[in-house]
Amino acid sequence: MKILVVNGVNLNMLGQREPEIYGTETLKDIEESVKKHCNNKGIDVDFYQSNVEGELVDCILYEKDRYDGIIANFGAYSHYSLALHDCLSMLKIPVIEVHLSNVHAREEYRHKLLTGSVSKGIICGFGSYGYIMAVNAMENTLNG
Ligand code: DQA
Repeated sequence: MKILVVNGVNLNMLGQREPEIYGTETLKDIEESVKKHCNNKGIDVDFYQSNVEGELVDCILYEKDRYDGIIANFGAYSHYSLALHDCLSMLKIPVIEVHLSNVHAREEYRHKLLTGSVSKGIICGFGSYGYIMAVNAMENTLNG
């Protein structure tokens, strides 16, 4: 099993960015703990991050055939990117969306998740542990 973990806009700033909402771990810290968790389970994992909407689309479209599933936190793009929504809509592999914060307990403009509407499921509000939960959910989804 091989999965791709994609992080979108502003998530490269984790650790410095509003730590009271997003925690103090950097994206590198999170990727390292996800990698360790995947290694323990015998899952191959790659990571990608970009602040550019089109680069996220390109990554998914060009890399999709190399993976069994995608775990994604597109950041603010999750709320309004029709381009990412349409890109995910054509995938045959499952996508599990993650948000560090509980977007439903925040501003109303964060309640709508355009990308989440075409994902297998959404995990939000558990901080970086959400990515670990997503790996477990992906394993369960792929192994039936
Ligand atoms: C986020 C939630 C989004 O609303 C926000 O724009 C982010 C981070 C999260 O992980 O909680 O950039 O996706």
